[in-house]
Amino acid sequence: MSIRLGDIAPDFTADSTEGPIRFHEYLGNSWGVLFSHPKDFTPVCTTELGEVARLKPEFDKRNCKVLGLSVDSVEDHRRWAGDIAETQGARLNFPLLGDPDRKIATLYDMIHPNANDTLTVRSVFVIGPDKKVKLIITYPASTGRNFEEILRAIDSLQLTAQFSVATPVNWKDGDDCIVIPSLSDEEARQRFPKGFKALKPYLRITPQPNK
Ligand code: BEZ
Repeated sequence: MSIRLGDIAPDFTADSTEGPIRFHEYLGNSWGVLFSHPKDFTPVCTTELGEVARLKPEFDKRNCKVLGLSVDSVEDHRRWAGDIAETQGARLNFPLLGDPDRKIATLYDMIHPNANDTLTVRSVFVIGPDKKVKLIITYPASTGRNFEEILRAIDSLQLTAQFSVATPVNWKDGDDCIVIPSLSDEEARQRFPKGFKALKPYLRITPQPNK
């Protein structure tokens, strides 16, 4: 069955490049990003894994643990890690899960048979500290992801979990936000001491509340 926003992220145990992992226990009270790539020793995946290693301090700042996965073995992941360090200038610094029996890929519906019936697509699941799935994105094998965009989305998820705001198109941390429509003007005045500007009754802009 496919996983939807708001579902509890299925728990699993798996071996990884950093030893055995029990997923929920590993996440603890942190946010998490579980992402799949199609195959070890492939070009786009090599660049993606290098980029995630480079951005790891940014995920850490957001109290977010990152885990990668493909249907390869941990032994293959370890051999491939050398190529990632050599070609991308960044050493693997987060766990890569081995999933040769496709247990996790199946649990998370990461194999899309009409795209490829054996390899995982480029799935991303962002999981909150409550273990619920907050965001899902899926890219095909031929298109490498933009992990800066995933960080941007995590910033929005973390902000909107804390304040009664939504974030508009192309928002980034520090930009103005949108007052959620379910708040009355009176409630908005109380919640946002910096005030808000109503372009329309349903389109109210307020400075980012925690800046
Ligand atoms: C890649 O990572 O380059 C790749 C993997 C599987 C299919 C196509 C491209």
